[in-house]
Amino acid sequence: MSEPVNNGRDSFSSRFAVIAAVAGSAIGLGNIWRFPYLTGENGGAAFLIVYLIIVISIGIPVMISEFIIGRAGQKNPYGSFKALAPGKPWYVIGLMGVVAAFMILAFYTTVSGWTLEYFYQGLTGNLSGKTDAELTVMFDVFLKSSFRPILWFIIFMGFTALIILSGVKEGIERYTKFLMPMLFIILIALCIRSLTLKGAGEGLRFLFYPDFSKITSKVVLEALGQAFFSLSIGMGTLITYGSYINKRENLGISALLVCLADTSVAVLAGIAIFPAVFALGGSPASGTGLVFIVLPGIFQKMPLGGFFQLIFFILLAVAALTSTISVLEVIVAYLAEELKMTRRKATIAATLMVSVLGIITVLSLGSLGNFKIFEKNIFGILEYLTSNIMLPVGGLFIVLFIGWSFSPQRTKSELTNEGKVKAGYLPVFMFIVKFVAPVAIALVFLYSLGII
Ligand code: PHE
Repeated sequence: MSEPVNNGRDSFSSRFAVIAAVAGSAIGLGNIWRFPYLTGENGGAAFLIVYLIIVISIGIPVMISEFIIGRAGQKNPYGSFKALAPGKPWYVIGLMGVVAAFMILAFYTTVSGWTLEYFYQGLTGNLSGKTDAELTVMFDVFLKSSFRPILWFIIFMGFTALIILSGVKEGIERYTKFLMPMLFIILIALCIRSLTLKGAGEGLRFLFYPDFSKITSKVVLEALGQAFFSLSIGMGTLITYGSYINKRENLGISALLVCLADTSVAVLAGIAIFPAVFALGGSPASGTGLVFIVLPGIFQKMPLGGFFQLIFFILLAVAALTSTISVLEVIVAYLAEELKMTRRKATIAATLMVSVLGIITVLSLGSLGNFKIFEKNIFGILEYLTSNIMLPVGGLFIVLFIGWSFSPQRTKSELTNEGKVKAGYLPVFMFIVKFVAPVAIALVFLYSLGII
């Protein structure tokens, strides 16, 4: 079913393709690697509750706002703001998004490379028969070895660039449509195994039974950052994708479905991991290595575990890939549309620049590990700055733009497709983007900085 294209721009071909592409961007390492490790470090259920509140009250409205800006502006984030608010400085948000895209790609592709390593190690049988202690050592040795993580980084970046080169429809749609549902199914299998381990109840308790005294300003800031990171919002990825959504799609429903899918995958990942962590005697707060150490442990206790392990890590790599392409697309769309480069040149330039920063990031977990700022290595700094600061600041200005600067008439027309579909939630949406979301984001910041 081919749609009339938006002003001659490439666009997604159907509702399902839109949702698959946006969900492909949203669902990735953020859900399966980052969400469990942050939940583990920040008190389990207490973190989950704060996270859910933020997704509903801030995440969904920011996502809808990005769709509106993209579909109305018909350009990359910078260009869309320029088109919608000529002569005003809103485009700075778009620029910040492009910078954030570089930074995110550097550490995200690093972790994506780990999934390839684990696929490879699974293939060669190196993960089987290992105790948890051995798996921990293995992860550490791999990170510090530098050569292999760099190699995987480059391979992964190469795949990302190749898909971007083949364009939005061909490149993005084709892969996301059937691979995402497969990941979902494997995750459910993992949950079943994890839940049937002896001692699994303790893990469920950790994930779902909140101890409210655990909620500190750090927990709230981490949950805010994770919500933005996981939903791919705050840096213009969804402005860019929004510009490829055709005029017939229902933006509100699309956003709702994507947020639902994204959150379900995160919770499923939690259910797969925590019962196993407790049953196998690990610590929930083991940081960035959590899934890479715990999951191979669970696979060993599953019938056909070795086989499932391979499928899992390859699907995780694909989920990461559908996210990295959405981040690289932000930079490429910017370079191509604003600096008038060809898509090919833009892709090559962006890939090379990201690779330099990426290799430094990989090394920061090995030989450059002693270089620290505020006790964080470069990997940690990039992760912290982007998720906890740049994305929420971007999101703050995105809702402020829709709430206070953009014409309410045009917002209405985008959300109702010029009166063709209903958007009964419009008044609530406007109230949230005007007041609730900006105040909430600002409060989290002030609170974390110790100002209130
Ligand atoms: N949302 C992606 C994930 O959860 C990561 C991402 C962040 C993608 C920001 C785009 C923009 O894996």
